[in-house]
Amino acid sequence: MSYGFEFCLPTKVVFGRDAHEKTGALVKECGGTKVLLHYGSGSVVRNGVLDLVKASLDAAGVPYAELGGVVPNPHLSKVYEGIDLCRKEGCDFILAVGGGSVIDSSKAIAYGLRCEGDVWDLFDHKGTAADCAPVGVVLTIAASGSETSNSCVITNDLVEPHLKRWYDSEIARARFAVMNPEFTMTLPAYQTAAGCADIMMHTMERYFTNGGSLEITDALCEALLRTVKDAALKLVGDPDDYETRAAVMWAGSLSHDGLMGCGCVGGDGVCHNLEHEVGALFGVTHGAGLCALWCHWARYVHSECMYKFKRFAVNVMGVADTGDDERTVLAGIDAMEEFFRAIGMPTNLRELGVEPTEEEIRQMTRMCVASNAPEIGSAKVFREEDMVKVYQMAAEA
Ligand code: NZQ
Ligand code: ZN
Repeated sequence: MSYGFEFCLPTKVVFGRDAHEKTGALVKECGGTKVLLHYGSGSVVRNGVLDLVKASLDAAGVPYAELGGVVPNPHLSKVYEGIDLCRKEGCDFILAVGGGSVIDSSKAIAYGLRCEGDVWDLFDHKGTAADCAPVGVVLTIAASGSETSNSCVITNDLVEPHLKRWYDSEIARARFAVMNPEFTMTLPAYQTAAGCADIMMHTMERYFTNGGSLEITDALCEALLRTVKDAALKLVGDPDDYETRAAVMWAGSLSHDGLMGCGCVGGDGVCHNLEHEVGALFGVTHGAGLCALWCHWARYVHSECMYKFKRFAVNVMGVADTGDDERTVLAGIDAMEEFFRAIGMPTNLRELGVEPTEEEIRQMTRMCVASNAPEIGSAKVFREEDMVKVYQMAAEA
C-alpha cells in the first residue's frame, strides 16, 4: 500500500561542464547583494574551483567575503564565525563551494542570520526556524545530497563529547545547485567511494520500509542503486570518466531530495542515526562509517523485511532467486559487502579504524536516542538494545 505525498524541489539545478560560469548570475537572480563564499580545508583552492567561482561572481559584479576552513563533520564554532563575519561584512547570501560539510555549515550560518537566539537550539531540538537566509551551492563532491535536501548536520565541537545533530526544514533548501561533474575528478578515491556509498544509503533508507511504497518509486530506487553501484566500480579504475562522474553527481541529488521516498511511509534511517554517533565520537568519513555498519544492520533486520531484501538481492545485486528466500536475501547482503570491499570501503568498525569499548558503544547508543527517539526505523523498529547489538556486531566482525 502506498501513501499520499507532497513533493516540491525548489532548488534550481544547473548541470554540466560550464555550469559554474552561471554562479554569479544565479546569485543575482536570487537577490543576493553580497556573498559569503564558504569553503573547506583547501581542496577548492588547490584545484582552482574557487578561482573559477570568484571569476563568475566578479563578472556578475557580485562582491564577496570569504570564509574557508570547514572540516568534514562541520563544526558549530565555524558556524558562529560565519554568522559574525556575515553581520560584519553585510553578507546576505551564503555560497557554499564544496561538499556536504560546507553546504551544511552554510545552511547553519543562514539559519543563524535570521533566527533569534542560539542556532544550536535548532539542532538540540529546542526550537524551530522561522526564517533562513538564502543559500546557493557549487558542488565538488557527489555524496551527501545536501545540495537538494532539506537537511543540515552540524557537530557541536564546543562540548565534550562532541554532539553531531541534524535539523530538517524546507526553508533551508538551496536556491540553486551548480554541478560540474569535472569538479569531482580531483577527489581522492576514498572520498569518491564513500560518496557513492552515501548516495546508495540515502536511497536504501527510503527503499527498506515496512510502511508501504509505490512501485514506480521502488523501481526508481533500484535503477539508481544499480547505476551508482556500477559507476562506483568503474570509477575505481577510471576516475576521470565524465559520463560516470555525471551519473553519480545527479544520482546524489536525486537520492536525497525526497523523490526516492514519494509514496513510501517510514523510511529507515537507522544506519544514518547510528553512524552519526560514530562520526561524533571518532570523526570518521560519513560514507565509510555507513559501510562499516550497513551489512551488520542488514543481517540483523532482514527477517522482518524479507520482501524488500529479496527484491534488493535480485533487482539490485543481481543475485539469482534460489527459491529459498533466506538464502537469496543473505546472498544479496553478502554481495553488497563484496561490493564495499571492491571499492575500498570498510565492512566493519575495525576496518574503519575504530575499536569502541563497551562503554563507548553504550555512550553512542545514549547519544543516538537523545538525538533521535527511543524507537527508530521501519524495516525493523530499533530500541536501545537493538542499537547496542548492531554496534557490537560491527565492532566484533
Ligand atoms: O575540506 P576540503 O579541503 O574541501 O576537502 C574535502 C573533505 O576532506 C574533500 N573534497 C571535497 N570536494 C573535493 C575534495 N577533495 C578534492 N577534490 C574535490 N573536488 O572531501 C572531503 C569530504 O568532504 P565533505 O564535504 O565532508 O563530504 P560529504 O559531501 O560526504 O559531506 C559529509 C557531511 O555531510 C553530512 C555528513 O554527516 C557529514 O557531516 N550529511 C549531510 C546530509 C544533508 N545535509 O542532507 C545528509 C547526509 O546523510 C550526511 O549526514
Ligand atoms: Zn548520508
